[in-house]
Amino acid sequence: MKAIPVGAPHLTEADRQAVLECLETGWISSEGPQVAAFEELFSATLGRRHGVAVSSGTAGLDIAVRALGLGPGDEVLVPSLTIISCGRAIAEAGARPVPVDCDATDWNARLGHFQERRTSRTKAILLVHLYGLCADLDPILAWAREQGLAVIEDASQAQGLRYRDRPCGSFGDISVFSLYANKVITTGEGGMVLCDSRALAERCRALRDLCFNPARRFWHEDLGWNYRLTALQAALGIPQVRRLPELVRRKRQLGLTYHDAFQSLSALASAPSATDYAENVYWAFGLVVAPEAPFTRDALTKALQDLGIGTRTFFYGLHQQPAFLKKGLVDPVSLPVTESLSQRGFYLPSGLGLSNEDQHRVIEAVEAFVSHR
Ligand SMILES: Cc1ncc(COP(=O)(O)O)c(C=O)c1O
Repeated sequence: MKAIPVGAPHLTEADRQAVLECLETGWISSEGPQVAAFEELFSATLGRRHGVAVSSGTAGLDIAVRALGLGPGDEVLVPSLTIISCGRAIAEAGARPVPVDCDATDWNARLGHFQERRTSRTKAILLVHLYGLCADLDPILAWAREQGLAVIEDASQAQGLRYRDRPCGSFGDISVFSLYANKVITTGEGGMVLCDSRALAERCRALRDLCFNPARRFWHEDLGWNYRLTALQAALGIPQVRRLPELVRRKRQLGLTYHDAFQSLSALASAPSATDYAENVYWAFGLVVAPEAPFTRDALTKALQDLGIGTRTFFYGLHQQPAFLKKGLVDPVSLPVTESLSQRGFYLPSGLGLSNEDQHRVIEAVEAFVSHR
């Protein structure tokens, strides 16, 4: 039987043409005009003044933390249930990641979770919107402002998501997107950093490009990275930004189909399809196996795997990662909701390349497994 990958991309003739044009004109490095065009289109779509295209979301997070001047002695509050890149960027800058717990219903950190772990050393919060839905952001942002904390927003899994009347990606002093192959807009590998301050944007550009001195080539007052995006990648992203509303509609349709199919299964919980502040865009359709279910998450994902259906488990908490614990980079705390979700959560094939027929095969496989326990 044909395998169903967990995050198949969907590329069109317009995407192909855009890349071919680069090859034909010879614009293949980051010097190509496609990079600036992509930055302008992406940032304008999100209502931000500046866009800095980078080589990955991980690179974008590294740049964001450094550009905000976070370093030794500073603590940054970050949801624990996220990719290692978030904690890594903070630790690499010499600051301390302070992982916080999250809500059991939509898996995002709430104001209380951030407040719980704030200390006199807290200088910033890193907001992450998980799997296509965000928390109620107004209270968190108001608190951060009142406390004088910088806000980094990781909207990698929230392309097309709106919180009240504004797009996610417009809430951070610096906001970051991954453009990896499983993201709504993808350049294969890639990322985008957005902000409104010219000075911050210039700092991000310098960090992206080894901190070259514009007046004195090969003279460096500071250390950056080569985190540049190529013109080939930028060209691939441009037509996708133009059709973002269509891509998001399809994501939501896939998500709602799963949501409706599994609503009656008490052994499986999913995030709300809408709250009073946002409509879930279902970047990925997550399911959490109930603690009292007669089967485990791993038994279910193994059964799906045997049928050729790809799944992905939820993240482990940052506070559980040996890479941080072994070096004493995070405190050995207990964050019970994160720990439970990371043991019981997973997501189903949710890519834009998923056909309706394949989605029905996935639904039937999950229903058959659950009804036979
Ligand atoms: C929330 C989040 N942040 C950051 C990243 C890292 O992005 P990249 O894989 O482009 O480095 C990912 C990757 O999937 C992600 O899901």
